[in-house]
Amino acid sequence: MVNRRPRVLVFDSGVGALSIGSEIHQLLPAPDMLYIMDCNGFPYGGWDEAALTAHICQQLQTLCERLLPDLVVVACNSASTAVLPALRERLAVPVVGVVPAIKPAAATSRSGVIGLLATPGTVRRDYTERLINDFASHCTVIRVGSAALAPAVERLFWEGEENPAVWQQVMAEFQQHPKAERMDTVVLACTHFPLVQPELARVAPGLDWVDSGEAIARRVRQLLHEANWDLPASAGHQRALILGLREATPALCKRLDGLGIQQYQRYDRAEAVSATATN
Ligand code: DGL
Repeated sequence: MVNRRPRVLVFDSGVGALSIGSEIHQLLPAPDMLYIMDCNGFPYGGWDEAALTAHICQQLQTLCERLLPDLVVVACNSASTAVLPALRERLAVPVVGVVPAIKPAAATSRSGVIGLLATPGTVRRDYTERLINDFASHCTVIRVGSAALAPAVERLFWEGEENPAVWQQVMAEFQQHPKAERMDTVVLACTHFPLVQPELARVAPGLDWVDSGEAIARRVRQLLHEANWDLPASAGHQRALILGLREATPALCKRLDGLGIQQYQRYDRAEAVSATATN
């Protein structure tokens, strides 16, 4: 048994780290959690695959050297569908990726028509196509790659800016498909999107929404058990690190506080910790 809490680093381009990290913390409170928001790189959904792979490998290698996590979660579908093999070659710790939950959606859909709501990058990846071929070949998968939704979620969390027109417009895109009427399940294949599931459900009621959060939390718990970590019932420490030049806004602090994350800091790769603010 290792005699300290494990440290889990949850990495995304932005607030998507919070949707996955909070699922992990809820299922397994013991680990110390580090939520990394790479504001320098946002939005990952628009990056070319090779450039994104190089960027994330470099970021995570540096972060792992500095922060010494015991496990890394790439809490981003746009990144995980591109970078996992390269990243696993470079990092010494286990890496858990978040990829579109097409398998459970295809297994539970009654109509066999499912929606895939993701970033433009995730929608066009070979990895995503393979998931569809392997697990949903009996289904019609309506793909919507939205460039607008993740930025709108960022604005909601950072500025408190509601954007009903974006929620509406994104769900309206599904309606262009001839089988849209029969769609009963939507895969939220970007870690930002579960954060606005209630908003999306309000404009498109009656659908089942599926994301990868719970499955990722179970996988993290399994890996830590297998590695024989001491996992006390009491909660570990939670800290958010913001990469880039942005300072946390009052709206973001309120969101973090709501998740029990009371420590956050701007984190500059070049200098180590550059500013600290706690509430
Ligand atoms: N959270 C990221 C994902 O799961 C996307 C956000 C972005 O485009 O950076 O795909």
